Amino acid sequence: MKPDILYFGHFPDATVAELNRRYNVHHYFKMPQPDDIPADIAARIRGVATEANRGISLAMLDRLPKLEAVSVFGVGLDLVDVKAIQERGIALGNTPDIIGPEVADLAIGMMLASARQIIFADHYARTGQWASKGPIPLGRSVANKTCGVIGLGGIGRAIADRAVAFRMRVLYTGTREKKDVPYAYVSDVVELARQSDYLMVACKGGPETRHLVSRAVIDALGPKGTLINVARGSVVDEEALIEALASKRLGWAALDVFENSPNFDKRLLDLPNVILQPHHGTAAIETRLEMGQLMIDNLAAGLEKRPLRTPVAA
Ligand code: 8YV
Repeated sequence: MKPDILYFGHFPDATVAELNRRYNVHHYFKMPQPDDIPADIAARIRGVATEANRGISLAMLDRLPKLEAVSVFGVGLDLVDVKAIQERGIALGNTPDIIGPEVADLAIGMMLASARQIIFADHYARTGQWASKGPIPLGRSVANKTCGVIGLGGIGRAIADRAVAFRMRVLYTGTREKKDVPYAYVSDVVELARQSDYLMVACKGGPETRHLVSRAVIDALGPKGTLINVARGSVVDEEALIEALASKRLGWAALDVFENSPNFDKRLLDLPNVILQPHHGTAAIETRLEMGQLMIDNLAAGLEKRPLRTPVAA
């Protein structure tokens, strides 16, 4: 008998095929309420595979008495009740490391798209404005500017290394100074923003970082500054951000994540100085396949009581 597993969200076809080959799979595209899982199925579930941006709640854990392994597709654990899972002796893995370069590519792409007006310029060419109005208004450089990074983990480090190749000066902040990095540490996030031209949000989400990018941080970044967020919407005070962008107290923003996804604040649609992306930092087929394989390997290890490839530390 194949073990019963639940999975939430969207995985690549090859990942889904492999899950089906190994397990008796119960799938929900949208995150269900615990009671949406029929009692006879809930009683048999031994494993859960879930996207980082769906997670798993305590109420869902309570619904699954036979659960032995939770495997997260992604790195963020802000929607996962890590403590409750580990206290119950349930194996827990996620997919760190492999996603950093992919998310960093998007962060740099968003920075360049904002600075060099790539999306606006495409619209300008398509709508005939090049011919009717002449050259577009000038954009701005990234070279010789300062890139501030909030959170120098796997994603932040990959952003920093790429920024250097664009001839940027890199500074960072985080919970502690790292001794093994070639970048200067700034302990205060307002001070980091004051010194930055481009401020990259790459830290984890959850209560500890909620609204870390506050009104004061946004004002310190100022009218010539650009905020780029590829982390979690919760890290930025979005109300303060919208007000600052509308009044030009902040120059520009490029956002892959929002306080309310996918139903983000519609006032953002009226702002010409923001670029909006549908949370797709890791959404390249190569990386998603690798994440899928690692997620399955972790799930299988948890169910077979072997060490996980990438366990979440207790
Ligand atoms: C995931 C993410 O890729 O890794 C994370 O923390 O937020 C995402 O980029 C997402 O959960 C994929 O479905």
